[in-house]
Amino acid sequence: MIKIKEDIYWIGVVDWAVRNFHGYITHRGSSYNSYLILDEKVVLIDFVKSPFADEQIAHIKELIDPKRIDYIIVNHAEPDHSGSIRKILEVAPNAEIIATDRCISTLKKYYGTDLKISSIQQKPSIKLGKRSLTFVPVPMAHWPDSMVTYMPEEKILFSNDAFGQHYASSGRFDDEVDSTILMHEATTYYANILMPLWRSVKNALKALEGVPVEILATSHGIIWRKDPSMILSAYTKWVAGETKPYAVIAYDTMWGSTEKVARAIAEGINSKGVEVKVFNLTASHNSDVIAEVLEAKAVLIGGPTLNNHVFPSVASFLAYMRGLKPMNKIGAAFGSYGWAGGAKKITETEMIAAGIQLIPSEIDFSYKPNEDELKKSYDFGQLIADKILNK
Ligand code: FEO
Repeated sequence: MIKIKEDIYWIGVVDWAVRNFHGYITHRGSSYNSYLILDEKVVLIDFVKSPFADEQIAHIKELIDPKRIDYIIVNHAEPDHSGSIRKILEVAPNAEIIATDRCISTLKKYYGTDLKISSIQQKPSIKLGKRSLTFVPVPMAHWPDSMVTYMPEEKILFSNDAFGQHYASSGRFDDEVDSTILMHEATTYYANILMPLWRSVKNALKALEGVPVEILATSHGIIWRKDPSMILSAYTKWVAGETKPYAVIAYDTMWGSTEKVARAIAEGINSKGVEVKVFNLTASHNSDVIAEVLEAKAVLIGGPTLNNHVFPSVASFLAYMRGLKPMNKIGAAFGSYGWAGGAKKITETEMIAAGIQLIPSEIDFSYKPNEDELKKSYDFGQLIADKILNK
């Protein structure tokens, strides 16, 4: 356990091993943060993922007898924050659980209808002694049940999923880790989890406007205490759909033809001084590519036709991106084929469904692109660069 402030402790667990979080590849693991407040009333904020219940209990016991816990605040019902509920209740039988109505019904679905839980409708805030807690519903940041918990006396926001990162580290605070890695993981986390929920995140930011925050105590990864404004301003830009003038090219290839086209387009874009990031979709995971798409102005997707359809890795990325719905992108599809095409058309349909504004493209060549076709691809890259630069 780690002291956050006098009598306020992090008692969560670090998951060094997790590499897949509902389809999102977590290269640096994660943590399930939980907090214990010792005041006249003793409060536990959030459970942890079920395999770590005993470790969470051990952390609590280092500070107090769990029977002394008066309240357990559940900010969100997803099992990474609720899985230890039954084991904790065994050792903390006197605790009153408090959650939103949606959270109550979801917890009962997961863990049984016998659970006794108070609603924040009846208890919008609680006095602890020297300190107090106020509950603020933030529906769909991440699930309909989500809320955040604010302690005005210490200006601490227990923000649950918002502002988190899947980042296992022995450092608990933003001043204890490399800030470049921290922002990289925060960006990847937002892109893979919160990007399609930008309206809800924007509403949450609005609800917190004017609320002084000195510590952002997240439920995953690092706690922001040195500079919470760093992540708050990043979120403000992301929910506004702000982009940077660069392009992402995501492609796959069967016999190297689509790759040649992708490289020619990339050269064309770069020839105008515009940055381009190129990903082979077999070599790169969807969750890493989508993190780069978050701030890109342009997204180009290409692949060969296989059995009259899209190449599997390209289909997977299109499905992933369609769900995450990146904002304010222009884009185009390209590809190659043997005797009958089809992949480019399907790719375009999926890109439109993902909300991307398509630039018409004729970059689709049979078998192997010749010099003239590669020149067309290069020129198309230049056209994309001009669009990025608003020329
Ligand atoms: Fe970290 Fe939505 O759970």
